[in-house]
Amino acid sequence: MSEQPASAPKAPEGVDTEKPSAARIYDWYLGGTQNWAVDREFGRRVEQQWPLVRPGAKQNREFMNRTVRAALKAGIRQFIDLGSGVPTAGNVHEVIEAELDDDDRATVLYVDYEPVAVAHATLILEEEAATDWAGILQADMRDPKSVLHSPTTREFIDFGKPVCLLMMAVLHFVGPDDDPEGLVKVYRDALAPGSWLSISQMSEGDGDGPALEGLRWFVEQYRKTSNPVWMRDRDDIVPFFGGWPLLEPGIVHLPDWRPERELNAVEAEARPFAWCGVAEKP
Ligand SMILES: C[S@@+](CC[C@H](N)C(=O)[O-])C[C@H]1O[C@@H](n2cnc3c(N)ncnc32)[C@H](O)[C@@H]1O
Repeated sequence: MSEQPASAPKAPEGVDTEKPSAARIYDWYLGGTQNWAVDREFGRRVEQQWPLVRPGAKQNREFMNRTVRAALKAGIRQFIDLGSGVPTAGNVHEVIEAELDDDDRATVLYVDYEPVAVAHATLILEEEAATDWAGILQADMRDPKSVLHSPTTREFIDFGKPVCLLMMAVLHFVGPDDDPEGLVKVYRDALAPGSWLSISQMSEGDGDGPALEGLRWFVEQYRKTSNPVWMRDRDDIVPFFGGWPLLEPGIVHLPDWRPERELNAVEAEARPFAWCGVAEKP
């Protein structure tokens, strides 16, 4: 194995079509179109070696959608999505639109540091006439002050009221040198009682055999990009919630958080390779 860096590089300053980007590759995994040849080539190679990557991405997305629906049902009307990405469908504001009546309101702040993700989110919010209640901030989530104090954030989020903070498949891009526990704490501390924190994180989990070997190959490949990844075990994820009570069913694999459908055989194989959970601030 090559030596693992301890921190991801700084945010990219512009669109780089020469290097694959996590945001655009993930879009490709989900069947989107906001990706370049270099991303597709990378994605295809990963898929060949680790065919569970696409079912895993889908399970992550479905978990996010179930969290948003549960938060809406619990009365939360503000959402912050850190590392929101470029996915084509099932974005937070789209789930809200599908769930809420016309006279019910919610707000969304998307945050990503990848320029294509930001441009794409801007476009879909404009196309869907959602810019008065949903916005995107281009920022590095490892700099929480720049996120929490941004005028864009303040336009959409009232920190005096509960927020559902989503950290979906983004903490595995935060290396040990960026103090992930301390980072998540800054965000937790900014939230009002009744807020939710929802996290998903890739992991070697309890996987084994060729599937685990495939995941390790995946980690090696990402290590060579500007978005290296760090796997974490369940025990590493518990402290991110800062002792807040976990909502049922606690920290589980993605498809096991309040499941709404059966998995096929390949999806079941992908199950061990991520953990997720949702907690509420007392
Ligand atoms: C795997 S995608 C996940 C997208 C979405 N959260 C989901 O779960 O469907 C990870 C996203 O996090 C973004 N990201 C990674 N590190 C980041 C950072 N330090 N600050 C902001 N965004 C970051 C990437 O650009 C990418 O869009």
